Amino acid sequence: MDSEPVNVREFQKLAKEALPKMHYDYYAGGAEDEHTLKENVKAFQRITFRPRILIDVSNINMETTILGYKTSAPIMVAPTGSHIYAHPEGEVATARAAAACNTIMVLSFSSSCTIEEVASSCDAVRFYQLYVYKKRYVSAQLLARAESNGFKAVVLTADTPKLGRREADIRNKLTAPQLKNLEGLLSVEADSKGGSDFGAFASQTLDPSLNWKDIAWLKSMTKLPILLKGVLTAEDAQKAVEVGVDAIIVSNHGARQLDYAPASISVLEEVVQAVAGAVPVLFDGGVRRGTDVFKALALGAQAVMIGRPVIYGLTAKGEYGVRRVLEMLKDELELTMSLNGCCTVKDITRSHVRTEGDRLR
Ligand code: FNR
Repeated sequence: MDSEPVNVREFQKLAKEALPKMHYDYYAGGAEDEHTLKENVKAFQRITFRPRILIDVSNINMETTILGYKTSAPIMVAPTGSHIYAHPEGEVATARAAAACNTIMVLSFSSSCTIEEVASSCDAVRFYQLYVYKKRYVSAQLLARAESNGFKAVVLTADTPKLGRREADIRNKLTAPQLKNLEGLLSVEADSKGGSDFGAFASQTLDPSLNWKDIAWLKSMTKLPILLKGVLTAEDAQKAVEVGVDAIIVSNHGARQLDYAPASISVLEEVVQAVAGAVPVLFDGGVRRGTDVFKALALGAQAVMIGRPVIYGLTAKGEYGVRRVLEMLKDELELTMSLNGCCTVKDITRSHVRTEGDRLR
């Protein structure tokens, strides 16, 4: 195959060819039957457009503002762990690519590079994703380091009290991640009982007691705005607003946690309606095309985050590959906006898409 992909999906093929099976499966895989993994993509395909014609689309402006920070398009980099398996420069390369595209990267708590390495790699607005460990001082210290290194918001991942069952990783005996941020802070014993060291590491570290009251604990530790990641229901969206988070991220963790959780795009509107404009709603899961970005915006998301395609771009072509992935999605979004008759992201409305629910009405 030509090594210069023409769409984001083609980077996945290159990544599959380039990576050891264990690491490709770690990036690509989902939980158990991978039902939700397939649905995350398929649910987008069931949404169609209601394009408007004869609108002057000579000037398209995709800029938007996320928590007060201007970005070139409503497309951000989702937090994903262990970029070092994809490329020797790891998250530093990803961060530079995001900065070059003038967009926001969310750095994973499970990054291979340190917070300081990423912070000093280039000037950009970045958010920090937080896992809460049983040893809470570990999470507290990493958050403090992110804050003092200029990260602008904290993304609390709330859908991972325990690690989802990823059978490929168990089969491949995936090794525990090398997390440089934790050096000197934490030592865990690899005891995989025939499964994966990765799973054993997660069960030793993640705090399954994390609950709604801990939002107050988190607030007491940081001045940063808090985004809550992993919301999939109206009930939890309302609770999130009540406890005072600054934004909500509709996400099923790229289908790596609870299999048979709904495709994130299929519950976006429910969450948006429950939030009723109180806080911004961001979105991730299955975004592979500019048309997907448009659909999520039409259903009420302020921006989308990209997970696996960024990793595939990084694997195939390093920093340049991540840039290409983000640029391709931006270019496709620009064309989708033009062909739907929308000149700015504010022009994208619910009336521009038709969902399955609409057909039943
Ligand atoms: C993730 N995701 C994730 N989320 C998080 O909050 N912290 C993390 O460390 C990780 N790590 C991670 C690793 C890998 C390999 C993947 C694929 C995903 C989930 C991620 O932030 C996001 O929710 C999904 O990746 C979005 O779905 P797509 O774009 O991959 O379909």
